[in-house]
Amino acid sequence: MPEGTVALVSPRVDLVSEALAGLSAARKTLPPKFFYDEAGCALFGAITRLAEYYPTRTELAILRDCAPDIAAHVAPGAAMVEYGASDEGKAAILFGVLDVDAYVPIDIAHGALTALANRMRWSHRAITVYPIAADFLAPVRLPAAIRAMPKLGFFPGSTIGNFDHEAAIGFLAMARVTLGQGASLLIGVDLEKSPDILIPAYDDAKGITAAFNLNILTRLNREADADFDLASFKHRADWNDDRKRIEMHLESRIAQTVHVAGRRIRFNAGETIHTENSHKFSVPHFASLARRAGWTIETTWTDAEQLFSVHLLR
Ligand code: AVI
Repeated sequence: MPEGTVALVSPRVDLVSEALAGLSAARKTLPPKFFYDEAGCALFGAITRLAEYYPTRTELAILRDCAPDIAAHVAPGAAMVEYGASDEGKAAILFGVLDVDAYVPIDIAHGALTALANRMRWSHRAITVYPIAADFLAPVRLPAAIRAMPKLGFFPGSTIGNFDHEAAIGFLAMARVTLGQGASLLIGVDLEKSPDILIPAYDDAKGITAAFNLNILTRLNREADADFDLASFKHRADWNDDRKRIEMHLESRIAQTVHVAGRRIRFNAGETIHTENSHKFSVPHFASLARRAGWTIETTWTDAEQLFSVHLLR
């Protein structure tokens, strides 16, 4: 594959059948990957800039502060493989400090990857970019050209928290196989904290997270021939203390019937569609998940307030 060309390796998401399966279940669900159409990506970008949404700015600050320390753990001439890389912003903090020869951004958003590769051709001429458009939950074959290089996996943003624990272990185990013997994985993990901080982070005053959640219904109206009336659903963000996670739901304000791809979906008043989990971890809890996937934590960095953590796994 020529440098900079986006390799398409995954089949298209079958949005209609996945939506129907989730909406026909006793407890209605929709997969969070449906959030990220063009409008959803823009809304997520806006979330990351909200005062209430601490994860992005806290992780960026940790990466800036700790980059020299991280560099000391990574062999020169490395290939960085970033999972869920819709832009190179976080990786670029490391490019300035680590000795990276190749960058393999993996993301489902083909357009975002093309734009990333074009930008990097000018901003980071010394780094060869091999974009892969794929669902990073499926096994990915790395380009042959980076086979001999030391590998650094990079999975920022605490996206690992959006998986249930078994899926998180499955992802970590798969990344270990993909990256190969001797590789490292740098991963951002959001920490447990008071619901007084968590709830506003997922239910902000400007309603951006509400718009992000409701956009999933707009997407089904457009792409799954659905007729959701957005005004009759409301965004909810609940803290589940037993499972240590924020749960996002869309709650039907009224009893109603919605049509999706020709099927009738009944809602009682107050019934919800569960759209996302965002798990929060203690360091020992995350360490035990990583261990079950065959990784050990080499170093952990956190901010002074212990809001967020970045781990180097080996
Ligand atoms: C992408 N992911 C880590 C975000 C999170 O915090 O769980 C998604 C998100 N959902 C609502 N706000 C942000």
